[in-house]
Amino acid sequence: MKDIVIKKFAEVFGDADGAEAFFAPGRVNLIGEHTDYNGGHVFPCALTIGTYAVARKREDRKLRFFSMNFEHLGIIESGLDDLKPSKEAGWTNYPKGVIWAFLEKGYEIRCGFDILLNGNIPNGSGLSSSASVEVVTGYILSELLGLNVPDQELAIIGQFSENNFNGVNCGIMDQFAIAMGKKDNAIFLDTSDLSFEYAPIKLEGAKIVISCSNKKRGLGDSKYNERRAECEEALKEIQAGMGINTLGDLNEEQFDKVQMAIKDEDRRKRARHAVYENQRTIKAVSALKNNDIELFGKLMNESHVSLRDDYEVTGLELDTLVEEAWKIDGVIGSRMTGAGFGGCTVSIVKDEAVDLFIDKVGKAYKDKIGYNADFYVVEIGPGPCRL
Ligand code: GLA
Repeated sequence: MKDIVIKKFAEVFGDADGAEAFFAPGRVNLIGEHTDYNGGHVFPCALTIGTYAVARKREDRKLRFFSMNFEHLGIIESGLDDLKPSKEAGWTNYPKGVIWAFLEKGYEIRCGFDILLNGNIPNGSGLSSSASVEVVTGYILSELLGLNVPDQELAIIGQFSENNFNGVNCGIMDQFAIAMGKKDNAIFLDTSDLSFEYAPIKLEGAKIVISCSNKKRGLGDSKYNERRAECEEALKEIQAGMGINTLGDLNEEQFDKVQMAIKDEDRRKRARHAVYENQRTIKAVSALKNNDIELFGKLMNESHVSLRDDYEVTGLELDTLVEEAWKIDGVIGSRMTGAGFGGCTVSIVKDEAVDLFIDKVGKAYKDKIGYNADFYVVEIGPGPCRL
């Protein structure tokens, strides 16, 4: 891929003198959904698919972007002095946002850049193509300007740019999973203080299979921000009678006792999901440590049910993928992953059942939904790197 992107860079920008190639992964979350903005735990991992980039410094303050995924848009030009937060959906809003965020955080950027990107994460699939673009951009700035920005800071800057430049109120999970990715490990992250540990994923005799619903989802226009606001409101109602900082501070029994402080039934369901999902994530990681993969799978299934019934972010497409997966012998666990409302599911499937899984789930999905799902057997890869 390195040769392909460098060749394309030369074609698009005249030559590739002084240009360097980089990569940042996508991510999949194994369990711990919609907990990251509720002070809870998440358990994502970086993938070996992601965003390839070629970049070089310019002598002036121009920014020129080109994406091989949106070739028809050609080169998109901007300038270091023209970066203003906006909710426009154009893809360059992500790299621009990160450059803006570096400036906001006081990093000195004295020159413009030519940047070419080529991603092999399906867009809008819930595998964090946008966070991957954010992290690769931050990594490029850090490397080409010699800023030595720590990987964890790249995650924080990525989230800051998405919140404040793109107007999406996302949590830290995606950028953290990508910036801190480690081969064959998932990251058990406590979002209340960013403490984390790596957990080796040794799925002897099983694979991680991602099923992409091909129902597109835009975070900005989804109900994501609405869910977040509902949780904040529910937290305030509980805080009126109890000293907690986040919903992640509560266990199931504590929540059950105080839940009637939340006046609205829907809001109560959102908060219940946030609390129970956080506890499920803690239990799932300890199941994995005890090599109890069956229990891990069962908790994944429960996570989906909670996202379907309490958080209400699944929808017919994701429910069909998951419910069909559950019918197949050899499926250890299956659930939606990411924000929901479309995007992907993640399943742990025994080796010998993978072909059958793809065939059966694929056919049932096509019959019910009318178009195809795509399937990817994925591997867990490292964080950003220079190629
Ligand atoms: C999106 C957001 C994350 C997280 C997930 C849901 O991927 O970017 O911060 O909230 O949804 O778990």
